[in-house]
Amino acid sequence: MALYSEKVMDHFRNPRNVGVIENADGIGEVGNAKCGDIMKMYLKIEDDIVQDVKFETFGCGSAIASSSMATELIKGRPVSEAMQLTNKAVAEALDGLPAYKLHCSVLAEEAIQSALNNYYEKHPDKKPGD
Ligand code: FES
Repeated sequence: MALYSEKVMDHFRNPRNVGVIENADGIGEVGNAKCGDIMKMYLKIEDDIVQDVKFETFGCGSAIASSSMATELIKGRPVSEAMQLTNKAVAEALDGLPAYKLHCSVLAEEAIQSALNNYYEKHPDKKPGD
């Protein structure tokens, strides 16, 4: 069996939503101290919907594939759903990652959480329960 699924290879070779959003509503940047990889997510949010999302990842192939898949999973979705995105869902959508590469999908979850937290910091009125 190949080490990486076809989906991982596809999203690594042709990553979706790479780039920067000017005047993003939320920006999150996270890193993994062990491998040194860094992931940055930009969100455009309107009417509680993730209208657009872009990423910049300085990291391994699995981190790039995870970022790409994570953006696809939350684009066009309500913010409340984006908040629920787990690394497990990202890895499953990629048809799996090798065990020692699962932390790459964790980075994607954390980057999106961080960008959403930044959005709520800028727009405290949007925070659920307030
Ligand atoms: Fe660290 Fe992939 S090796 S994010």
